Amino acid sequence: MTRRDLFKTSLSVPAAVVAAESAFSEQAQAQTQTPPAPVPGGGRERLLFDFGWRFHLGHATDMAKDFDFHGNFSKTGGFGAVSTLAFDDSDWKSVDLPHDWAIELPFENDPALGNKGFYPLGRTYPATSVGWYRRIFELPASDAGKRITVEFDAAYREATVIFNGFYIGRHIGGYDPFSFDLTDFATPGGTNILLVRVDATQSDGWFYEGAGIYRHVWLVKTNPLHVKKWGAFARSEVRPGEAVVKVRTEVANDGKAVPNARVTSSIVDPAGKLVAKTVSAPQSIAAFGDLVTEQQVVVRTPALWSLEERNLYKLVTEIDTGGAITDRYETPFGIRTCTFDAEKGFFLNGKSVKLKGTCNHQDHAGVGAALPDAVQYFRVRKLQEMGCNALRTSHNPPTPELLNAADELGMLVFDETRMMSSNPEGLAQLENLVRRDRNHPSVFMWSLGNEEGTADTEKGFLILTEMKAVTTKYDGSRLVSMAPNGGRNMGKGGFAALDVQGYNYADQAADAFHKANPKAPVMGTEQVSAVATRGIYKMDPEHGYVGSYDPYTTTGRASCEGWWSFCNARPWLAGGFIWTGFDYRGEPSPYGWPNIGSQYGIIDMCGFPKDSFFYFQSWWRDLPVLHVFPHWNWPGLEGKEIAVWVYSNLDRVELFLNGQSLGAKDMKKDAHLAWNVKYAPGTIEARGFKDGKQVLTAKRETAGPAAKLVLTADRKEISADGEDVAMFAVEVQDAEGRPVPTADNEVSFRLSGEGRVMGVGNGDPTNHEPDTASSRKAFCGLCMAVVQASKTAGGITVEASSPGLAPSNVTISSKAVKLRPQVAGWEREAAAGSGITGLWRTGAAQIFTFRQDGGALAGTVEGVRGDTPIAIQDGKVDGAKFSFTAGNMTYTGTLQGEAIELQRSGGGPPRREMKWVADADLAIGPPPDGSDPSNGAFVGLSRGPQGPATFMLHRAKR
Ligand code: GAL
Repeated sequence: MTRRDLFKTSLSVPAAVVAAESAFSEQAQAQTQTPPAPVPGGGRERLLFDFGWRFHLGHATDMAKDFDFHGNFSKTGGFGAVSTLAFDDSDWKSVDLPHDWAIELPFENDPALGNKGFYPLGRTYPATSVGWYRRIFELPASDAGKRITVEFDAAYREATVIFNGFYIGRHIGGYDPFSFDLTDFATPGGTNILLVRVDATQSDGWFYEGAGIYRHVWLVKTNPLHVKKWGAFARSEVRPGEAVVKVRTEVANDGKAVPNARVTSSIVDPAGKLVAKTVSAPQSIAAFGDLVTEQQVVVRTPALWSLEERNLYKLVTEIDTGGAITDRYETPFGIRTCTFDAEKGFFLNGKSVKLKGTCNHQDHAGVGAALPDAVQYFRVRKLQEMGCNALRTSHNPPTPELLNAADELGMLVFDETRMMSSNPEGLAQLENLVRRDRNHPSVFMWSLGNEEGTADTEKGFLILTEMKAVTTKYDGSRLVSMAPNGGRNMGKGGFAALDVQGYNYADQAADAFHKANPKAPVMGTEQVSAVATRGIYKMDPEHGYVGSYDPYTTTGRASCEGWWSFCNARPWLAGGFIWTGFDYRGEPSPYGWPNIGSQYGIIDMCGFPKDSFFYFQSWWRDLPVLHVFPHWNWPGLEGKEIAVWVYSNLDRVELFLNGQSLGAKDMKKDAHLAWNVKYAPGTIEARGFKDGKQVLTAKRETAGPAAKLVLTADRKEISADGEDVAMFAVEVQDAEGRPVPTADNEVSFRLSGEGRVMGVGNGDPTNHEPDTASSRKAFCGLCMAVVQASKTAGGITVEASSPGLAPSNVTISSKAVKLRPQVAGWEREAAAGSGITGLWRTGAAQIFTFRQDGGALAGTVEGVRGDTPIAIQDGKVDGAKFSFTAGNMTYTGTLQGEAIELQRSGGGPPRREMKWVADADLAIGPPPDGSDPSNGAFVGLSRGPQGPATFMLHRAKR
């Protein structure tokens, strides 16, 4: 039960539901009063809380190395020194979020770590499985009376949140967003400390999942009467020439007042024009109660969201109490229809769309699971370059910005929950997913799970039925499906509860199911699982490489061509999702160590395409494609036969070796072409013909020794917001500018200007160099750096260099932008100066701030009585010696260079003088004077904890 629920129960106030559909629709508006002019923001602030954190590893088993964390839940407040302002975190690393500490750890060749990408995480690695995050910040005095909430988009995997020394709560589950109301524990007009302990010992999945606060954090301030988190929902029904937009608003009253609240819902079109508006009747909301309103408006000639035109509307919700707007909440949404037809597959806005999808984990070279928003966009664009129009967020709720990228760039999303369960945790995760994501037009269907062994059972039916009810309750506009294990029991057990029958890999079973159930819509949910190492063409288990020819699936599932030609030949099949779009860490496949990642991607970890990328591009995109492989550097294989493959969507391709034709072949739909060619160094060239005309050529040339680097950036200009990212790719070339496909030169990235190299990568699934570095070996001729802008506008120049090769540099610009509203940074004001003047710390969480003025000394002592600084009194300096009092303590000190020896005495009068009263008159029983002799055994004086002591102070910066 949440604290709000508790209030509600104690006040016995049922949630009120107001159905305002007809009475307060657009037409009825004339009779309602014009609401007062909106207060900008309505008192709501949503501040990015990503910058300026401090991070330190803790320990999963050793309390002393875990900042004395022993489950400090016995009392409210006083969590421990680490939660205090005076705590010395100067040896904590400065980090900005999103942050994944796992990729900074060294690889361990321990077979038990395979799924984790051989990063030392888990029960046997307690020293690297727990991380602590600290953030100090000010709240203005004007925040008094506001509700203050911290929102985590997710953390991996168990987070314990402490605020101002108060234990606030815990959250388990690495993908599920969570938030805590901090109001009662906050200090408006003062300094506040947020502390988060993240324990990544346990796993949610069987793939690399990262560690730490790897998604955004937000500080949200609202008036007590406000829209709940994700509390506005616009659901459209498209009719000829118009859309009926049904709006549901969930309002919370987190205050003692009982206001009469009205909900105004306005719809703003993609051009920013107000196109519909409706106002609810005033409705009283009980103290600590809530209210749900249902409204409805009509949008004439709506601009539909589609893959081609990403029209996004905005629902603006305002809550007012007659006089003032107490909240203003904006929700982007789209108007479109998604339907399935058992004979014809999937339709978007009535138009047939074959789902050309990929499954993806959240992981990228250089950054791990902590993807900056720009990397989400980069990945969606890369997938689109291949012709992909759909994405399955396997096997967990995605980062919200991935959905923003999908909305804005035009990609359909099969949005998956992590836990297939109707237990409270499973249902809560699903509820969060649905409430959070239901306004995204890109999300076309909910996925209730992946390859769950119990899904096809009777229990599975009960579980999935309950889960589906959650999606209906909080959305009701989308169908549900899941990704079942192979083709076992399709349509049976729990699968009968789903709207669309999914299947993983089992194409033949899908065929049989369709024949037997021609009225059931079917969609592939996970296909292919072919493996390939970019740039490698020979199986090489010893080094952990797989040849890039499509049939090398090694898993025995399906090749790219095998699956797609099957899928494309069946109009009833809505499409499918390749395992996977991008390579990912963990689940090393098909080999174990030295592989630290999977090789299922059609694109490598960095974003460099493998050859199969061009197979899909040929058949998924509407542009001429011609791609020939392998590379043509095979010294020692002269005269031997090499399979030369061509991916193309042209009519006919002719192959040439050193200008000699090896024959032309007609391209068949959804296929590839192959020649066996006796190797001779030089040029292998494909010439592609369409309608009898040569329209494209593609070639591979035998390269000479590596001579130079060629650096390119994917963007010319990025935003100076401390978040934006550009990808800098390096190609190793020979003196003639030919790519050297086997080059493995070590490349250093040197950045000057307003940015930083966040990380590096090369796509080699066996490379054990760290990603958080500024140099990387090239792999098959390529490597890259992820570069992030600072908050200062200017140029960012990256130089790539390698011993013996000509370097290359590229400058991009980082333009000034308005920063997203964010929590300001915090630094202690250290008294500047020399001698005694300055900031001094003991080993414990105590701080002495001294300001010497001749023979006088002023300043404060912190960390003695909570976090409130105590002013220094009677401070006197005499040469190296000084003295002062603070509270009930007297201090004398001696400056010894950069240290101070400090003696403390006093501590106020002894609390009690205890005497032994054993000589009582009676043989048995207390003395007749009524005194208590029982403490008499403890002879001596009792003092507070701050008794006399001598300690050394060291000069500190923070
Ligand atoms: C699937 C599973 C994926 C991945 C894949 C590898 O069965 O759903 O998560 O493990 O196999 O081929």
